[in-house]
Amino acid sequence: MNTKETMHPDCEKILFSEETIQKRIEEVAAEVDKALPHDSVIAICVLNGAVMFFADLVRKLHHDIQFDFMSVSSYGDGTTSGALKIKKDISANVKGKDVLIVEDIIDSGRTLMLLKKLLEDRGAASVKIVTLLNKPSRREVDMYSDFNCFDVGNEFIIGYGLDYAQQYRSLPYIGILKREIYEK
Ligand code: IMP
Ligand code: MG
Repeated sequence: MNTKETMHPDCEKILFSEETIQKRIEEVAAEVDKALPHDSVIAICVLNGAVMFFADLVRKLHHDIQFDFMSVSSYGDGTTSGALKIKKDISANVKGKDVLIVEDIIDSGRTLMLLKKLLEDRGAASVKIVTLLNKPSRREVDMYSDFNCFDVGNEFIIGYGLDYAQQYRSLPYIGILKREIYEK
């Protein structure tokens, strides 16, 4: 079945269409353009989830920007802020640089809190965060992005880079995963 043109059968509802996503990224790119210095910024794409958002966002910025890629996850005992597991590190030296972290979603906030601290500890001049999605109802630490495209409720989100068990990333829209898929 072609799940790109019709809704994927595991998707409960489409929240944001391709067109809505592109329009909103255009607005957020304008905010980022205004707020960031126009040279020496390194944009860090947090793999794998942010890859679509990153590619669309950087093309809508009016200034050239350096790229780098990182893959991280957070783990902890649930009571402390936990630790950051680096699965793939950036190649760039961020010392003295203005950094823009590009992330798919802030859920508990732990990953971004730890990643921001790591980049600050490495001597970045500034660290700003842009997220595609924000799930405020699930926040466990005091962490917010500087720029955000859309708020979502306490539901499992798939598509446009976001996965469940490595599936659904290539869907062009953002949708809610049916509960029966992750509760079975
Ligand atoms: P946090 O550290 O809890 O803020 O979340 C970190 C990561 O969990 C995000 O970067 C996503 O990769 C993943 N995640 C959280 N919520 C969702 C969701 O609804 N769909 C897909 N991935 C999610
Ligand atoms: Mg992520």
